[in-house]
Amino acid sequence: MTAPPRPAGIEFHDVTVAYGRRPVLWNVDFTVPGGCLYGIIGPNGAGKSTLLKAALGLVPLAGGEVRILGAALEAVRGRVGYVPQRESVDWDFPVSVTDVVLMGTYGRLGWLARPGRRERELAAACLERVGLADVADRQIGRLSGGQQQRVFLARALAQEADVYLLDEPMAGVDARSQEQIFAVLAGLRAEGKLVAVVHHDLRTAAAWFDEVALVDMRLVAAGPVAEVLTPENLRRTYSGRLDLLDEIGRAVAEGGRTR
Ligand SMILES: Nc1ncnc2c1ncn2[C@@H]1O[C@H](COP(=O)(O)OP(=O)(O)OP(=O)(O)O)[C@@H](O)[C@H]1O
Ligand SMILES: [Mg+2]
Repeated sequence: MTAPPRPAGIEFHDVTVAYGRRPVLWNVDFTVPGGCLYGIIGPNGAGKSTLLKAALGLVPLAGGEVRILGAALEAVRGRVGYVPQRESVDWDFPVSVTDVVLMGTYGRLGWLARPGRRERELAAACLERVGLADVADRQIGRLSGGQQQRVFLARALAQEADVYLLDEPMAGVDARSQEQIFAVLAGLRAEGKLVAVVHHDLRTAAAWFDEVALVDMRLVAAGPVAEVLTPENLRRTYSGRLDLLDEIGRAVAEGGRTR
């Protein structure tokens, strides 16, 4: 019996990426199905951020191909929203939270057009959605790290994309904000959008994602959480962290029951 065909999402075909002469992704081949909440998991330096950048054309491929929604990136670029991994940027320049979110609408408007009423209403709705309506006029530098993360999520929402790629949106964010961000991502999934998230915490991964890819320069495994986050795969990927394995095993079992 063959499974029914799944909607096109992101296809990684034998993707190899090297920085200089050092490969950091090697023949990575898997498909992120459309309309799901997908986790990209792996240890520090595994190539998770590079994988998103490869999908976005931000790093050159040394081999292979990426297709998004069944097309080459150039054809769908405007339908893909991206939230990069948080960097320690000192946001000292005088832009407000709303200004940053409005940047999400520029792709459709073109650089010369000024955002109008529709864009301002959209920005306000996106800030509301991430729980930041009350800081809309504040200078971006005067927010906590977790609030800044949510501003960048709001900027991506304002793009009204069909595919969202987020690099560790939960990093450095307290449990309450994490739940809030997760609720936003689950809402996007409910609208039929594809949301792929680089994520660090294996304990929450099991509960939050429909499917995951375990990456460590190569693809270790990809598919439903319970099939991928097995003790054996985790041992192969996190061999130095054996203490984690029991805990994750329990989280996977619980996550499977709550879905
Ligand atoms: N611009 C770059 N030039 C050279 N090497 C790089 C560059 N960016 C990343 N690397 C290296 O490539 C490897 C993969 O990096 P990447 O940022 O993709 O990992 P990651 O899985 O996202 O890690 P983390 O969990 O720490 O965010 C690492 O060894 C990193 O040092
Ligand atoms: Mg990274």
